[in-house]
Parts: sequence; C-alpha cells; structure tokens
Amino acid sequence: MRKIVIAGNWKMFKTQAESTAFLSGFLPHLESTPSAREVVLCPPFTDLILASKSLHGSRVSLGSQNVHWEENGAYTGEIAAPMLTEIGVRYVIVGHSERRQYFGETDITVNLRLKAAQKHGLTPILCVGETKQQRDANETEKLISSQLKKGLVDVDQSNLVIAYEPIWAIGTGDTCEAKEANRVISLIRSQLSNPSVTIQYGGSVKPNNIDEIMAQPEIDGALVGGASLEADSFARIVNYK
Ligand code: PGA
Repeated sequence: MRKIVIAGNWKMFKTQAESTAFLSGFLPHLESTPSAREVVLCPPFTDLILASKSLHGSRVSLGSQNVHWEENGAYTGEIAAPMLTEIGVRYVIVGHSERRQYFGETDITVNLRLKAAQKHGLTPILCVGETKQQRDANETEKLISSQLKKGLVDVDQSNLVIAYEPIWAIGTGDTCEAKEANRVISLIRSQLSNPSVTIQYGGSVKPNNIDEIMAQPEIDGALVGGASLEADSFARIVNYK
C-alpha cells in the first residue's frame, strides 16, 4: 500500500510569529482528516524548533528544506542531519528545482544529500521535473529518467518520497493537467525498483484543483508551495475529497 503524503513547502516565508499564527488556525482543521494521510510542514530553519514544540502530539510531521551530506564541518549556511533529527524533523526536501536553479544543486549533490538523510533516519522528498523548454522539446521523459538514475544511486527506495514538479507549473498558477501528471508519475514509477514509493505531484496545487489531482490513480500526494502558506487553503488541500 502506498502512503498518501501531503507536504507544505514554505520556502523562505514566515517568521516565528507568522508560523505560530498559521498553526493556531491550521491544526483545528485536522480533527477529521483521515488518519492514513500523512501531513508534513517544511518551514524555514528558524521556525523548526518552535514548530517542533507546537506540533508535539499533533498528527503533523515536520520537514526541513535542505540537509547537507556531512554530519558537521566547515559548510557555511548548510544544515546537518543530526541537527534536524535532534529536534524531531522527520522529512527533508532534496533537489527542489529552486535549489537546482539558484544554488548549484546537481544530481550528484542531490544523491549525497539523499543518502545522508536516510543514514540518519530522515525520509527524503526527492524533487524531479522539467522546464518549459525541455517539455516543448519533448525531453521530459529523458530528463526525468536521468535525474532519477543519477539521483537514486545507492538510495534506499523503502524510505523515499518522490515529488514530480514540472518547473513551469511551480508558482505560476499554471498547473499540469492532472491526467498528464498522472502519466509522468506512472513513468517515474516504472523506473523504480520499489513499487510502493509514494510519488507526489507539485506545482500550483490549490484548493480548487486538489480533488482532481488526488483522484488520479498514480498520484499519492502533493508538495504544495504558495497554497500551504495560508491555514484555510492548506487545510482544504489536506482535507481533499
Ligand atoms: P507552488 O510550489 O505550489 O507554489 O507552485 C510548489 C513547490 O515549489 O514545491
């Protein structure tokens, strides 16, 4: 059975005061959320400790937006897995297209981060997806295959979530058609050795399209950016019908 995982990626948004306000509005909405749905929030580093305390005893798991491959060292601006697990972080986003695009993330560093996360018991959410140009040039499958092949070397597929995030759909309001996302996700699944890996869709997921997205047979959840910043909107997504 594949697990359903709905994760909110807050990116570089929300001070501690704003996180506190979000949680007090969001948590009451989860009372009737089916227990089989895993709900994850990935706030900025400065909010993690506070969120960890506020979420203690709740059904929401905490995720980080990055993890380094070393356990410590001279890596200014990075964060190590033991620092995350110590405060109760369970998931980590790896290889988000914004990290690949703006911060020099490559399939090689993605692979190192995935292995380090797993070694410390974190569940990585590996992001893959094509640009608009790659899609227009019919290179989507080739690109995603290559991201998976290089990213997943020696990675344990029994503790892994994958997010298919077409870059042209991220933050643009331009969602990938649910059926097309389903098709690409089934191609991703065909390249995995473990058929039970949870594969999410990400890219302009909103309260008004989540039901259709989650109705697709291959889609096991969502990675949500903008619409996870507002309590009512993320609650509607988590409580999709
Ligand atoms: P979006 O972001 O929902 O704002 O498009 C998704 C993501 O970047 O994970």
